[in-house]
Amino acid sequence: MSELQKNEELLKITDLKTHFFTHKGVVPAVDGVSIEIPRRQIVGVVGESGCGKSVTAMSVLQLISRPGKIVGGSIRLDGRELVGADINEIRSIRGNKVSVIFQEPMTSLNPVYTVGRQVSEAITAHQAVSQEEARQRVVDMFKAVGIPEAEKRYKSYPHQLSGGLRQRVMIGMAMACQPQLLIADEPTTALDVTIEAQILHLMKQLEHDFGTSIMLITHNLGVVAEVCDYVYVMYAGKIMEQAGIFDLFDHTAHPYTKGLLNSIPKPTAEKRRLYNIKGMVPNLLRLPKGCRFSPRCEYARPECFEHEPELYDAGNQHLVRCFLYKNGGGPA
Ligand SMILES: Nc1ncnc2c1ncn2[C@@H]1O[C@H](COP(=O)(O)OP(=O)(O)OP(=O)(O)O)[C@@H](O)[C@H]1O
Ligand SMILES: [Mg+2]
Repeated sequence: MSELQKNEELLKITDLKTHFFTHKGVVPAVDGVSIEIPRRQIVGVVGESGCGKSVTAMSVLQLISRPGKIVGGSIRLDGRELVGADINEIRSIRGNKVSVIFQEPMTSLNPVYTVGRQVSEAITAHQAVSQEEARQRVVDMFKAVGIPEAEKRYKSYPHQLSGGLRQRVMIGMAMACQPQLLIADEPTTALDVTIEAQILHLMKQLEHDFGTSIMLITHNLGVVAEVCDYVYVMYAGKIMEQAGIFDLFDHTAHPYTKGLLNSIPKPTAEKRRLYNIKGMVPNLLRLPKGCRFSPRCEYARPECFEHEPELYDAGNQHLVRCFLYKNGGGPA
């Protein structure tokens, strides 16, 4: 391995473009996105529904099918290019080096097999271990992810478990092969807040115990605040702001991120109306000229409707796609 590869981030997505070629036109769902996930870090990707979070995740695993296509950019995992890689190489990576947890565990678990059998098959599919060894690893993993009575639960069918336990099974399955990267796409959205807190705690523990890097996709900035080290904010297929977790909350820069933050309910503000970002997410088939957030932005000025801003450097690994920060400044 070269020096360069050793120093490279675990996952390095550069200028990724994933478009859907529909009969109505080209949908640029991911439109020049660059994301880096360092080793042993939890990186958040946030944004409203339809902004391209899941398509970005699916692109990493090369799970984009027609009418979608990766039309540009690079995705390097541990120094190896995944875009255009051989399908056998991608298969050996999925569920082995990279695992995914999807939002609704019921759709990812097969109802006719016990959860223990499903997780143990995930192990034997990728690693040369005996069935008994695999069974023991599953029981240990179930204990590690906080499933009570792990031996007994091994023999349960998915419908016999609560939503929280099923999600723990999914995390156990995703962790069973000790992946380098875990992609968690809205892992707690379907769960109640107590279970959500437990699952987030668990993910932090996994990062700590196994050194797994995590890409945590969510529309919830509260979830991000809980566990992430670094955050990317997406809007209509582009990254609008990226920053370390403290900078994002203490020095929020992009008007869009400010809007997202203001729409989190706060216990102190119960009598005030919850702030909503005015307007709607643009139709990707008819993106506005200039900055794609300009029609909804209270700071927009003439150039914002004409030209698309770059990601400007606000210092301290904080980048902002907004003309207000072109010269390192900010809103007056
Ligand atoms: N098969 C498809 N055909 C056409 N367009 C698609 C297809 N799949 C996704 N898209 C487009 O890609 C955009 C991004 O979708 P994506 O699922 O990544 O959003 P998301 O950020 O994950 O949203 P959510 O928070 O609702 O999960 C959507 O606006 C959708 O229009
Ligand atoms: Mg999604």
